[in-house]
Amino acid sequence: MFSRVEVAFQSLLNCLQTVKMYGSNHPMFQKSLDNAYMAFEVALADHEEIVVGIVGEELAFEKEILFELGKLLRPAILYLKERNIERLAFYRGLNKGELRIFVDFIARPKEEFKGDPTQVFDLAGAEHISIGKLKVGGSKKTEGDKTKNSGLYDSSAQHIDQALNGLLNNDKIDHLALKFSLGSIMESLSVQRNELLKLATLKRYDSETYTHMLNVAIFSLYFSSRLGFDKENVLNIGMSAMFHDIGKIYISRKILHKPGQLTDQEFGRIRSHTFLGAEIMLKYVDTLGILPVVVSFEHHLKYDSTGYPRFPYIKKQHIASSIVSICDVYDALSQRRGYKQDYSPDVVYNIMDKEKGSSFDPVLLNKFFKFVGLWPVGSIVALNDGSIAQVFEQNESDIQRPIVEVVAPMEKKGKVDLLKTAALSISRYLNPWKEGKEYLTFDK
Ligand SMILES: [Fe+2]
Ligand SMILES: [Fe+2]
Repeated sequence: MFSRVEVAFQSLLNCLQTVKMYGSNHPMFQKSLDNAYMAFEVALADHEEIVVGIVGEELAFEKEILFELGKLLRPAILYLKERNIERLAFYRGLNKGELRIFVDFIARPKEEFKGDPTQVFDLAGAEHISIGKLKVGGSKKTEGDKTKNSGLYDSSAQHIDQALNGLLNNDKIDHLALKFSLGSIMESLSVQRNELLKLATLKRYDSETYTHMLNVAIFSLYFSSRLGFDKENVLNIGMSAMFHDIGKIYISRKILHKPGQLTDQEFGRIRSHTFLGAEIMLKYVDTLGILPVVVSFEHHLKYDSTGYPRFPYIKKQHIASSIVSICDVYDALSQRRGYKQDYSPDVVYNIMDKEKGSSFDPVLLNKFFKFVGLWPVGSIVALNDGSIAQVFEQNESDIQRPIVEVVAPMEKKGKVDLLKTAALSISRYLNPWKEGKEYLTFDK
């Protein structure tokens, strides 16, 4: 079924090449159009609609990113991207005339695609095809990377918000938009990783549920890619991280945010978010795969097989669940919470390090802190000479001594590699919402 969609797209791109080479009146084009139409007819027999998105340089369809097809079609993907087209939808009822309009339309020279192509295409009269853009904020070329990533973060948070609402209302979720957000985050992590991790560190203080979900997703994407998983697995782990706490939508806010001690019954309710979440995610197996079900179910299981849900036999966590549970606890401890004092990164590190071998797989936990550092990128810190700095980049050989950027006093401004400057060290963390606020270079 899946390959039918691939065949349809391949034949469509064939069609595009033929029209470019021979023009639309040539019999070769007619033939390729016939082929493409037939392929779409077959593919639309299984699907009401076929929606394909361009995620980075890949094509995404339902739960898969068509990596292989993406490779094959890279020139075509770039071609569509140059024309501002990132999303294509074909609906059942499509006729050959419409397919022809579409091919003619996208075959135009790219100079004719200034601005938004959607409106122009809407007027062309192909009702069963729509084209568009998957907007992931802040993409204006004049804006700097910081703004771009901030926009990316915000719009991803919005997509999560929409997805959560979708789940609440039993609606379809826009998995393509979600996947696109995660794909963009994944891409940014490879080129702009410090900027994005910095956002996860600082935006954490927004405390909304979806911010937690997005942060856990960002950390899981980063962690699993650094562990060496391939793109597809990284994306699946990120997606599972995004939904790990989804079962909490069934638990009353009163219990979730209760300031005092929980009764046994209330604690039981909280624990139920694991299997409630798995049950919700089971409905989305077709589009999101099985991993979100597994991770929802297992993310509170511990390395030593304690935790919950309880099993009458020894149950080891899936590696994806172990990754997500480390990122989950890390973000939860670091979050500003109404009912407890903020934990600074060194306190978070000490708490988690104590759980090494009991809650967490020791090898994984060591690697996690090696990658994110003890003082995460973006942290505002005081150095032992009294100056104030912001953590710029990790030194993986010593998690205590990152590269920092001194922001005050004026005369000391500039980057310092603490690994190479033995006399200097980090003495204190400054809360970015309190005493560290004035030193923030990140525009919140
Ligand atoms: Fe949870
Ligand atoms: Fe969580």
